[in-house]
Amino acid sequence: MTSLAVSPGGPLIGRLSVPGDKSISHRVVMLAGLADGTSEITGLSDGDDVAHTVSIVEALGAGVEVVDGVVSITGGGLGPAGGSLYVGNSGTGIRLLAGMLAGLAFTSVLDGDESIRRRPMDRVVDPLRAMGADICGVDGSALAPLTIDGGGLHGVEYAPPMASAQVKGCVLFAGLSADGPTTVVESEPTRAHTEELMAAFGIEVITGPGGVTVQPGRPVAFTHRVAGDPSQAAFWAVAAAIVEGSDVVVENVYSGPVRTGFVDVLARMGADITHDAVSGDLSVGASALKGTVVEAAEVPGLVDEVPVLAVAAACAEGETRFCGVGELRVKETDRMATISSELGAMGARVRVEGDDLIVVGGPMQGAEVDSHGDHRIAMASAVAALVAEGPTVVSGWEAVDTSYPAFGRDLESLRA
Ligand code: S3P
Repeated sequence: MTSLAVSPGGPLIGRLSVPGDKSISHRVVMLAGLADGTSEITGLSDGDDVAHTVSIVEALGAGVEVVDGVVSITGGGLGPAGGSLYVGNSGTGIRLLAGMLAGLAFTSVLDGDESIRRRPMDRVVDPLRAMGADICGVDGSALAPLTIDGGGLHGVEYAPPMASAQVKGCVLFAGLSADGPTTVVESEPTRAHTEELMAAFGIEVITGPGGVTVQPGRPVAFTHRVAGDPSQAAFWAVAAAIVEGSDVVVENVYSGPVRTGFVDVLARMGADITHDAVSGDLSVGASALKGTVVEAAEVPGLVDEVPVLAVAAACAEGETRFCGVGELRVKETDRMATISSELGAMGARVRVEGDDLIVVGGPMQGAEVDSHGDHRIAMASAVAALVAEGPTVVSGWEAVDTSYPAFGRDLESLRA
């Protein structure tokens, strides 16, 4: 187990880029694995989560080569792997791959780490069974490892009971191999990467008021540059907003739908923040923050940013209420609990009321905190440590390897 020691200090100044978007990276790797021919991807997320998805398409028979940061994947004709397919800590990986594998006519087993084995998979098992898939979890449950006997799927219309881009993505990936069109009807819009990328790479997709519909088909090989991950940029946005005198620009940040809700929330809190949709530059300077209400309808657009927005809220004047964030209970950790315990250990006033998370601003003190194996809890704690009184040690720091291995180095470069 590794730890990161962070002491409060001077302003954060400079320009930086963050890893390629993790959600997009998983999807382009899978689409490249399905496409006949060679696809070339630059800017792929360098975290372990996406590395596991790359290894999985390779184990299924795709050719993978990495030269000078360009990942070339030669796909088409995927077949059975020798053993079980390991997604590591990645909920997105297991859920999207379950959809893809349900459509491929061979048997696969998807497994992951302890956190993955605890996370709910019924949200993908149910719609895949409705499409005719033969999929089951361990001991008859809907928990990983998942065994999938793929093939023979029927197109369906499915309305997920929760707002989830992973569930939408799973069903749409399965739809590529179904016998007719597949439609997902969402209660709230979620990130649109699956349908955007499928449409860009040769699949017939219609998005409208009646949902997102894909026709069965195979993507064509493509070239794609993955934009910077807004969920990673959010850590620097909050850090720059709360550390006096800071001025940070994060370059090339993805600006598509339902991903950058944190920018609106920080602006509402009084942050000096702009996101240029053309260049992707996200510019943030320090300013006094005040509390706000984050409505439930905003949550799909910032669901992964709640841990670091809670840090902003702890530094703001007054109360911030995150409404309807119950889904945080089934992330890499129960984030309602881990935000409360770790920021709470630093003196932040955090409480849970039903599905709402409430944070009241006030001073924080350095403390010994733990990631609980959750990358976003580790990085949010490190950001809080920048303004706490006294040093903080974040143990379980290796959790950041899942999405942002260079976070500690980037922090040092901004403080230099
Ligand atoms: C993701 C969707 C979100 C998000 C996750 C990535 C995706 O999960 O929390 O980190 O790439 O589709 P849910 O679909 O469970 O909301």
